[in-house]
Amino acid sequence: MKILIIHGANLGILGKREPEIYGTLTLDEINGILMSEFPNVEFEFFNSNFEGEIVNKLNSLIDSDFDGVVINPGAFTHYSYAIRDAISALKIPVVEVHLSNIYARAQSGETFRQISVIAPVCKGYIAGFGHLSYILGVEAILKLIEKQKAK
Ligand code: DQA
Repeated sequence: MKILIIHGANLGILGKREPEIYGTLTLDEINGILMSEFPNVEFEFFNSNFEGEIVNKLNSLIDSDFDGVVINPGAFTHYSYAIRDAISALKIPVVEVHLSNIYARAQSGETFRQISVIAPVCKGYIAGFGHLSYILGVEAILKLIEKQKAK
């Protein structure tokens, strides 16, 4: 089982970035937790602040042996049609995750967070559980694949 984890803009500074919102874990610590939670999954981790690099990475999955993708696009969530189209072109399941609850934040004034242009082309989305959102995202992919195999 091969799963790609994509972390988008400003997630490389986790741990130091608004810890009251995003928590104190660094990206490496989150990646490490995923590896120890799912020892049977082969993970690749990809982090970029550049939209085009994320698009290229997603394009590279066409005809690859990856089984699924968990993506936290960061702020690209709210406006990147390029990332949306790249996900739309894939046949493997993609789950969008966020550390913070983007809908609660939208309610308290940051209205731009209300829209995810990515979510409609994903299997589903998980937001608001801190680093657990990533664990739940991987769980979702594993369950989806299990269900597909049982068919
Ligand atoms: C985020 C939520 C986005 O709105 C924000 O721009 C981020 C992080 C999250 O994980 O909570 O960079 O994706």
